[in-house]
Amino acid sequence: MVTIVVNRSSKETALSRAIIKKIVDFVCEQENREIPGKLSIAFVSLEEIRTLKKEFFHQNIETDVISFFYGTEEPDKVWGEIIVCPEKAREYAHTYGTRYENEQKLLLIHGLLHLLGYDDTDADKKQIMESRQNHLLEHFLIIEKRDHLVLLAQKAQQYAYAPYSLFPVGAALETCNGRVIQGGNIENASYGLSVCAERVVLFKAVSMGYATFTRLAIVSSSQDYCFPCGACRQVLYEFTPHLEILTARRGGDYQVYTLDELFPHPFQLKPEKGF
Ligand code: THU
Repeated sequence: MVTIVVNRSSKETALSRAIIKKIVDFVCEQENREIPGKLSIAFVSLEEIRTLKKEFFHQNIETDVISFFYGTEEPDKVWGEIIVCPEKAREYAHTYGTRYENEQKLLLIHGLLHLLGYDDTDADKKQIMESRQNHLLEHFLIIEKRDHLVLLAQKAQQYAYAPYSLFPVGAALETCNGRVIQGGNIENASYGLSVCAERVVLFKAVSMGYATFTRLAIVSSSQDYCFPCGACRQVLYEFTPHLEILTARRGGDYQVYTLDELFPHPFQLKPEKGF
């Protein structure tokens, strides 16, 4: 397992250790590679990265990320080093209208790909490397959103009112503008009137004016993945047929589906002649 050493000399806020570890693990898994030694990651100022570029590459220019590959396989020796300049990430976020944090993630992925053998010294190689790094970032950001939504669904179990089944379900529905609506199942002494967590969050969201959604996470305390019931699938389908559904189980481990995959033949009202 890779040991990651993080150094911060830049005054800019940099990625947390937990996010760095998640990115390194994710990229290694996607690239099917393992890092055999220590990985050193440093966040430095523009001044410092310019000095490094001058000293090691004989170019007196500002840059965004530098990688040094040592390749030692001894676990306590540094296998590779990535130097990231957060100020550059801030500049890119400004230029491209992106999030500063995500530009830092991209620089880290770029540096890591260099250590794993990618090269951008000619136009063809550059194109391959850039498309790989963009794809990896996109994939990573989706996973981050999914993980976060499942966490919010877990927290939403506290909103459940389930004194009869003692089976609290939490749901978190991500709206098209990124906001998350949380809720739990609401039961009734007249059992059949109980409403599942999925419909609770959907009705809550639709009554707030939302009409399309990106993903929905559902969690119960069971060790089985919590799937939406047939009635909820029909109701959800009305708004977002291709909705991403995250079915989680106790502990937060989850599976990913789309609604149309779980519910391929919904009831649909198609007005015909004479209707
Ligand atoms: N329930 C949900 O809230 N969502 C599901 O996906 C399945 C079941 C609720 C309904 C009831 O309050 C309790 O779980 C036990 O069936």
